This record gives sequence, structure tokens and C-alpha cells, in this order.
Amino acid sequence: KDNDIIVEPVIDSTNQYMLERIPHLSSGDTCLAEYQSAGRGRRGRQWISPFGCNLYLSMYWKLDQGPAAAIGLSLVVGIIIAETLNKLTKGKIKVKWPNDLYLNDKKLAGILVELTGKTGDAAHIIIGVGINIGMGKNNIEIENTINQEWASLADEVESIERNILSVNIIQALKEALTLFEKEGLSPFVNRWFELDNFLGRSVKLLIGNDVISGVEKGINQQGALLLEQDNGDIIPYIGGEISLRPN
Ligand code: ATP
Ligand code: BTN
Repeated sequence: KDNDIIVEPVIDSTNQYMLERIPHLSSGDTCLAEYQSAGRGRRGRQWISPFGCNLYLSMYWKLDQGPAAAIGLSLVVGIIIAETLNKLTKGKIKVKWPNDLYLNDKKLAGILVELTGKTGDAAHIIIGVGINIGMGKNNIEIENTINQEWASLADEVESIERNILSVNIIQALKEALTLFEKEGLSPFVNRWFELDNFLGRSVKLLIGNDVISGVEKGINQQGALLLEQDNGDIIPYIGGEISLRPN
């Protein structure tokens, strides 16, 4: 059976909509909205979602490997979105571990993976993707709410067909997640290195109240971030509470 694609003009959050319908969903089913009144980011933060100019998309995926595989899955999603957008921007879209997309060193898009399911069971995963396509700079509410530098695809690309872009993203995600289920992260690790915005750069990791500085060295086969410390040791970091920042 074909996947369902649900398109709503106005919604609270496409992730919330899908989370509430998990028993009725098949892998690849997708919800798109033109506006979100309660778009969300990681750790309860807000995702600004003005009407009619961006992309807000959530896809359901059932992952037999269980919840532990979700970190790898979220890296795969970032790679796929970046590669799809790079067909329009000559390679200017980059990834930031674990799951943001950058354009010209500014935040262009975010990925929010939410899941249910116990260790040992299949995980039910909602993959949320928000991409700024045409969001303009002349709006006070947007400027006051986003407390970091951000970009829109329209900064680089003259005309963008959002319907075609959505279909391309849905198709590419389905193919990549099918491959990830069969082969894990290994077919994707080299592709991450091609896209990593901070590779070789001096960065810091915020982990709770701790700050760890080092040089970013990409990811390992498990999807952990590799950080070279002053003494030359390369240490892997993994977990949902870590934020990467330029130093
Ligand atoms: P990290 O996940 O590494 O801590 P982050 O600071 O970007 O990075 P997230 O929770 O991933 O935090 O994303 C939410 C943040 O994204 C918000 O606090 C805001 O700064 C920013 N933001 C919100 N809406 C948008 C948007 N439409 N475009 C770009 N950035 C946005
Ligand atoms: C982040 O950078 O923290 C992730 C932002 C994810 C935003 C998308 S928009 C579609 C989906 N629905 C939501 O409420 N959030 C995600």
C-alpha cells in the first residue's frame, strides 16, 4: 500500500499529530503542515513556524532494532536532508552533530526525533524536520524569538518549489531508512564527513553544567561525536543532552 501523506494548513505540531496516531501508522507515513502553533525543538524549546513559507514535516518509522538505534537514525536523516538540499545549493548545506542543518554557518533547519518503545522492543519513531525555505528577516516576532543566527534556503536559491522538495525529501528518507535498517550506520559515515560543518574546527560541548573543549573529528561507527582533547586523545561523546558550539 502507498504511504499516507497528510497535509494540514494549521496544526499544533506535526510531531505531536503523528505521536497521537502511532497505532494507525505505517513506516513512511508523513504529515506536512503550513503552520505550527506549537512547533518544538529539542528539550522543550520552541520552533518558530510561520505560515506558508517553510517546510514542517514529520515521518513515522518503525525501527525493529529498538530505541538504541535512534541516534544513528537521526544522523542519517540529517545527511539525507542535507544531500537533498545540496542539489539546489551546490553543496553549501552542512550538518551539525547531532541533527541541525547549517547554511553559511547559520541554522537553516532542525531535526527532532521522538520515540516510544522499550529497550528490547521495536521503537516507534517520529522524525520531525523543520526547514526554513522563505522565512524573511523583517519580522520582529521571529527576530526576538530565535536567539541564534539563522538562514533560509531563499538566501541561496532563487525559486523553490516546496511541493517537489517535499516529495524528494520523503522519497529520499524512505530509501535511506530502509538501507539503515539493513546495514546500520556504516553506509552513511563517510557521507557525514563530507557534510560536517565543524570538522577540524575548535568547538566546545555543553553537557549539563560542564563545558568540554577540543577539535571536532567527525563521528564513529556508532554515531558518537569525536573530540580531540589537548593531550591528543580522541574521545567519543554520545547522548541527548549534549550541545555542540563553535569555540
Ligand atoms: P542544540 O540542539 O545543539 O542545543 P539549538 O540551540 O539549536 O542546538 P534546538 O533545541 O536544537 O537548540 O533548537 C531550538 C532552537 O532553534 C531555538 O532555541 C531557537 O534558537 C532556534 N530556532 C527556533 N525556530 C527556528 C527557526 N525557524 N529557524 C532557525 N532556528 C530556529
Ligand atoms: C531542533 O533544532 O531542535 C529541531 C527542530 C524541529 C522542528 C520540526 S518542524 C516539524 C516537526 N514538528 C515539530 O513540532 N518539530 C519538528
